[in-house]
Formats: sequence, structure tokens, C-alpha cells
Amino acid sequence: MAIREIIVLPDKQLRLVSRPIEKVTPEIRALAADMFETMYDAPGIGLAAIQVAEPIRLITMDIAKKEDGTDPRVFINPEILSSSEETSTYEEGCLSIPEYYEEVERPARVRVRFMDLDGKMHEEDAEGLYATCIQHEIDHLNGKLFVDYLSKLKRDRVLKKFTKAAKLSEK
Ligand code: NI
Repeated sequence: MAIREIIVLPDKQLRLVSRPIEKVTPEIRALAADMFETMYDAPGIGLAAIQVAEPIRLITMDIAKKEDGTDPRVFINPEILSSSEETSTYEEGCLSIPEYYEEVERPARVRVRFMDLDGKMHEEDAEGLYATCIQHEIDHLNGKLFVDYLSKLKRDRVLKKFTKAAKLSEK
């Protein structure tokens, strides 16, 4: 296992649409293991493969409370089957937009279908933090970021900040 580099805004790869995984290979398992190590190290609660520059539809997540230990979960080719009318608002952050947090409103509950590392299909109803997190991560697979839900003013401001930081670190 290895900690991978997490790509950050304004890296254009974050806008790629990730491709479906046809088969769970040893390479996919190894990538998932690396993603967990990277995610726990960051630390973060969710990571999409594109955030380590792999444009495939793979997500790792662990939303367990500290006192409950760990609950590592893998989502392959996840799809939202339905979303509730009711919404909820969470303060979101993203490992690809470090140290930036804003409130985002999303459907409060979603039904999600995905495959696990054994190639088994699952369908689950997600609510609370799980619902928010899985929607945020699936957005990554579609090249979408949580700042896209903010006002243009806020989005432009954060993009400018990260573009400037990237230029400074190049020099
Ligand atoms: Ni994110």
C-alpha cells in the first residue's frame, strides 16, 4: 500500500468524467487499498479515484464516528437510483479543495446501487452524512465539485485563490 498524491483545484483532471469499471482486478483492489491509506492519512471521509488521478468509477468512504472504530467501504460504479424531494444542508469540504468549507444543500435521502470489491451488487438507502457523502463522491466521478453548487461569486473567489496558490508553488 502507498499514500498517493491528491490532486487539487484547479487541476483540470478533476473535471474528467470517470469510466466504469468492468471487472474487479488485482490492480483495482490495490488502488482501493492505496485510496484508503491516502484518505485516512489526509484525513478525510471520502475519496474518489480521480482525486488520485485515476479516472475510474471507484470511491472509498469511511463515515464511522471515531468512537465506533473504522468502517471502510468501497463503491464501484455507484449510481443514484432516486433522490428525496426533501433536502438537507451540510457544511462540505473536499480533499481536492483543502481547507475550504461551505454549506451545500442536497437531497436528504438517496437510493444508491453499487458493486463491492467482490463484484457483488448492492442497493441501499442512504440518509444523513452517508447521503451527502455518496452524492459528493459520485459528483467527482462526473467531473463535478461541491463548489459548483455555490454562488458564482463564491466559486470564482475560491477558484482564483487556488489558481494563485498553484502559480506560486510553480515558481
Ligand atoms: Ni471531494
